[in-house]
Amino acid sequence: MNAAVRAVVRKAIFHEIEVYGVFGGYAGLISGNIKKLELGSVGDIIHRGGTMLYSARCEEFKTKEGQQKGIDQLKKHGIDGLVVIGGDGSYMGAKALTEQGYPCVGVPGTIDNDIPGTEFTIGFDTALNTVIDAIDKIRDTATSHERTFIIEVMGRNAGDIALWAGLAGGAETILIPEENYDMNDIADRLQKGNERGKKHSIIVVAEGVCSGHEFGKQLKEATGTDNRISTLGHIQRGGSPTAFDRVLASRLGARAVELLLDGKGGRAVGMEQNKLVDYDIIEALGRKHTVDLDLYKLSQELSI
Ligand code: F6P
Repeated sequence: MNAAVRAVVRKAIFHEIEVYGVFGGYAGLISGNIKKLELGSVGDIIHRGGTMLYSARCEEFKTKEGQQKGIDQLKKHGIDGLVVIGGDGSYMGAKALTEQGYPCVGVPGTIDNDIPGTEFTIGFDTALNTVIDAIDKIRDTATSHERTFIIEVMGRNAGDIALWAGLAGGAETILIPEENYDMNDIADRLQKGNERGKKHSIIVVAEGVCSGHEFGKQLKEATGTDNRISTLGHIQRGGSPTAFDRVLASRLGARAVELLLDGKGGRAVGMEQNKLVDYDIIEALGRKHTVDLDLYKLSQELSI
């Protein structure tokens, strides 16, 4: 997110436009926590996780009154357009502002990779690398103790983190909310692996399927053998961003500014096949994010 903030600020100043930062998400917008940003304000942040602007989940902004207060603040500060960087909640807010006629551009920033209109969201690659690092470490102990490990990852209702990290981490089984699973089949595969002399196993469960603990209980009932559970949690949301995320964020942030400069509000930027794209934000949010089912099929073929 910081790399995106930096790109927005620097690109705007490059075009001799004043930039203001809204601190604390929509809550900060409503309360007027808005400060002018200079070139130096975004120095030394490209490699840092989190966001220098802070963030908040804001119930009030879901109401028309809250949105109007936000628009009033923007007008009071003489701000002509807003770049919103975030996930589901942020996009809903940007959509509401667009519906009320305020020029807004959405930049997809969430580890979940679940925003329609882009193949990748900012933060997804960094989260993936964190998960893979954890899987590799857990695999060491799974191997030495000959155990089955269940690793629960984030993703809200999307299976992207589980799928990509499971594939990259060589997981034996990956459970995603987009596809049903068959416990008998999983137990069978574990049994067959055992017969081949394979005594450990990694199962990645997306939080959108169920909790790792819940799945662990079901698996124990089906196999009669013990397992261990690791819930990775919020470590997936922090850490220094990968090169991929920094470049993606720089490109998307800069494109958002270009769109506003061209007088194009109500857009959502994204990247498809390594090209920048932008869509009507209302139309884009009406679409459904889909997980890559070819990748899911591949993961199953490679984990026999
Ligand atoms: O959207 C990002 C995300 O980390 C999801 O993967 C997760 O379900 C959710 O946020 C957790 O939210 P919170 O930190 O508010 O509990």
